[in-house]
Amino acid sequence: MSLMFPLLRRAALASGALALMAGAAFAAGTPGTADPVMGQQLFRSHCAVCHKADASGGVKLGDATSADLQAPELESQYKETDALILRAMLDGKDEDGEDLAKIMPRWRGKITDAQAADILAYLKTVTAH
Ligand code: HEC
Repeated sequence: MSLMFPLLRRAALASGALALMAGAAFAAGTPGTADPVMGQQLFRSHCAVCHKADASGGVKLGDATSADLQAPELESQYKETDALILRAMLDGKDEDGEDLAKIMPRWRGKITDAQAADILAYLKTVTAH
């Protein structure tokens, strides 16, 4: 038994690791699994400098003022359509397809689609004014 034990342990560890890998692959490939906790971290590191930590915006940046990104106003402005909010983030277009101020970074290519979805999931949780 003392000889068997390390072998069993290794087998158990290996199958645990495989299960984790399978879980990660499943999460990455499945829509609807956006992670608001990850989104909050991304928001803090990429967006809060202009939009404020509470996403309330209102920061003067040259000619532009950073937008209030708190829900549910953002969602209603963007016609309750996630694709339009994601387009604003990634391509700098407002709800009517007009260009946002240049100072708002175009995030396409700088963050992944999955990260953009995580940030959106987070913004939907930010409602306090
Ligand atoms: C360098 C400053 C800056 C950074 C960094 C920044 N933004 Fe912006 N953002 C702005 C400004 C300024 C506007 C307003 C643009 C306008 O009014 O045309 C804006 C507008 C937006 C809008 C449109 C909102 C609306 O009401 O139309 C969204 C969505 C947005 N930002 C999301 C983000 C996200 C998500 C991040 C981080 C990944 C981010 N922004 C990072 C400055 C910034």
